[in-house]
Amino acid sequence: MPTLIDEARTARENAVAPFSKFKVGAALRTKAGKIYRGCNVENCTYGLTVCAERVALLSALAAGERDFTSIAVVTQSEEPSTPCGPCRQLMWEYCGDIDVTLANLAGQTIEYKLSDLFPHPFSFCIE
Ligand code: THU
Repeated sequence: MPTLIDEARTARENAVAPFSKFKVGAALRTKAGKIYRGCNVENCTYGLTVCAERVALLSALAAGERDFTSIAVVTQSEEPSTPCGPCRQLMWEYCGDIDVTLANLAGQTIEYKLSDLFPHPFSFCIE
């Protein structure tokens, strides 16, 4: 059975990154064990680019999912790359303090809780 990192690696293969050439894959696991994949999708205005983490999260939310346990993110960087600020905010709002596994193609991995990466969240709307 593929690991969450394997799923993120597979997701990365569909990345649309003609501008940055930086392909990212994400795989988000629900509490029930279902996995939603996402990849970054760039756009010629640049500003409309959507990150892999957000594609995975929005796809899961659109499918009706609300409970998540973990996300894996795979990049080609020398060190596993951390999610951008807006993705951290959205993950916090919709996933809470999930496990975040960052990996690169060389097989290096780093494990965090989202609260390690996003320690002082804006969360007035979260009960
Ligand atoms: N990117 C992601 O997909 N996730 C992140 O957390 C950071 C950045 C994408 C956006 C863009 O397509 C490329 O990586 C370079 O910034």
